[in-house]
Amino acid sequence: MLAFAARAVVKPPGFLKPFSLMKVSGRFKAHQDSLPRLPVPPLQQSLDHYLKALQPIVSKEEWIQTKQLVEEFQTSGVGERLQKGLERRAKKSENWLSEWWLKTAYLQYRQPLVIHSNPGLMLPKQDFVDLQGQLRFAARLIEGVLDFKAMIDNETLPVEYLGGKPLCMNQYYQILSSCRVPGPKQDSVVNFSKVKKPPLHITVVHNFQFFELDVYHSDGTPLTADQIFVQLEKIWNSSLQTNKEPVGILTSNHRNSWAKAYNTLIKDKVNRESVRSIQQSIFAVCLDRPVPRVADEAYRSHVAGQMLHGGGGQLNSGNRWFDKTLQFIVAEDGSCGLVYEHAAAEGPPIISLLDHVIEFTKKPELVSPPTVPLPMPRKLRFNITPEIKKDIEKAKQNLGIMIQDLDITVMVFHHFGKDFPKSEKLSPDAFIQLALQLAYYRTYGQACATYESASLRAFHLGRTDTIRSATVESLAFVRAMDGSSVPEHQKVELLRRAVQAHRDYTDRAIRGEAFDRHLLGLRLQAVEDLVSMPDIFMDASYAVAMHFKLSTSQVPAKTDCVMFFGPVVPDGYGVCYNPREAHIHFSVSAYNSCAETSAGRLARSLERALLDMRALLQGHPRAKL
Ligand code: COA
Repeated sequence: MLAFAARAVVKPPGFLKPFSLMKVSGRFKAHQDSLPRLPVPPLQQSLDHYLKALQPIVSKEEWIQTKQLVEEFQTSGVGERLQKGLERRAKKSENWLSEWWLKTAYLQYRQPLVIHSNPGLMLPKQDFVDLQGQLRFAARLIEGVLDFKAMIDNETLPVEYLGGKPLCMNQYYQILSSCRVPGPKQDSVVNFSKVKKPPLHITVVHNFQFFELDVYHSDGTPLTADQIFVQLEKIWNSSLQTNKEPVGILTSNHRNSWAKAYNTLIKDKVNRESVRSIQQSIFAVCLDRPVPRVADEAYRSHVAGQMLHGGGGQLNSGNRWFDKTLQFIVAEDGSCGLVYEHAAAEGPPIISLLDHVIEFTKKPELVSPPTVPLPMPRKLRFNITPEIKKDIEKAKQNLGIMIQDLDITVMVFHHFGKDFPKSEKLSPDAFIQLALQLAYYRTYGQACATYESASLRAFHLGRTDTIRSATVESLAFVRAMDGSSVPEHQKVELLRRAVQAHRDYTDRAIRGEAFDRHLLGLRLQAVEDLVSMPDIFMDASYAVAMHFKLSTSQVPAKTDCVMFFGPVVPDGYGVCYNPREAHIHFSVSAYNSCAETSAGRLARSLERALLDMRALLQGHPRAKL
């Protein structure tokens, strides 16, 4: 309890400004102020939903025991007292959850960012295979991001909607010019976009060497793609040595180790200034070596790994600063994507920026040779002492182990996309989630705690809540699906009921009425009030419920791309998908060290589940029901 209180006051270093302190103004502020505040759901409702959500994933005995604890939580007055505390917090703050969530989900999380926290994203292979093509594409991409940034700076970014409701746009203001900073017990995130003199440079990294590239002229206009291209060529030519220390790899380490190494690193003034330049830069661009050639069918999964972790100390991992909020990756062989630090934002704002950039790169280029000679981009130097070298070696070793352990499969499901469930008047997201439940059940013979992110952005500073996709209804369907004694029409009915139950859950979640963040709030309120932890948070069912063997997320895009992330538990899976109209991009991750999991096997089972569910529905057209 005290440890938590102590962690809560950890501050970022003096020269850095935490983003929660930023001032915003104008149209953006007016929109933000008009958004509703995140409600605290009624206690009874959340507890009822919690008990229902446990039914498919715990034993009958465990459930009965938990039901008793829940009743005690209510009758003893403990629950009500904590609820009142939460309601007071909600009255006093802009969002009762956001600070807590930022700390518990991200800043106090000590596992390495690589694989465990930073999502990666892979674009379709670009059609260049040489240096010219690589630098030309990178230049267009940079120009495209600056074009998007102009909309953020002018506050002209169109407001997004979900379910007819306008969404909080705050995350867009956090993804550029920001960086995570390691701390001994808690990290911080710094954002420089609203400081008096916002940064005018990006970071470019090639052969483990970092550069500060100014992307604006002194009159405030951005460099053109041609000018950026010339600058990238200069960077490339002055970083041909391949024997440099991969200092960036330090950021891949366990957060406590990195925090310690960080203090050692920035003791040196030159290093401190280089680190500061990276932290302040608008974003980073990693010019990678070609990804090792693999068989065509393995290409996607292989590149996904490259985007998530860079392939290790010998390959491209030293070409990253994993704390940087946004890093675009462009390799010489046409493999491209990005990796981002999660504390600042969820996937959707990153994707909409990317959709914009990809559209931008397709526009015909205005050919205009640079008229003014541009200065050489500044090389960011690092003095590597024996102690720092030792830290780099340790980080390399640890990353090597993590890379070996990652089992990732990226696949395109070509048979149908959102169009099919829609034609059956079913929610595509719920249909896909149900297929995942079926795939998992067929593999393990049971359901597991399943997490799907639901947006809370209909509320001011909202992030996410949890849709629990393993429901009483989904379990009834998956059990029936392969049962020879169940008539087909009944399976269809169970499928439809399960899809509807998922969609209802989603609707509740985006209205701020899911129970997961509410329970988290009650737990943290107990910590803050220094009362003993209520039994409902100490029992076996709670542990099972929080052990998300399926951690999933829909991240839709207009571009043919897919996001990916590691599983959140050692014996689980991370699943992400981008449903397009006529096909679906999927990524599935697992850990090799767990004998029971296999990303490829679950992906194949998912494919079969989707096809079987379609066959079931097509065998029983709705009119005949
Ligand atoms: N019949 C026909 N069409 C239907 C339908 C039905 N019964 N139900 C839904 N649809 C349509 C929708 O109108 C929508 O149409 P569109 O393609 O024209 O937009 C489409 O199907 C998709 O709807 P659905 O599949 O139900 O999902 P959704 O778009 O509402 O998304 C979530 C559901 C949970 C993904 C979304 O609410 C959310 O919260 N997203 C944020 C997740 C997030 O933050 N992820 C990142 C974490 S890093």
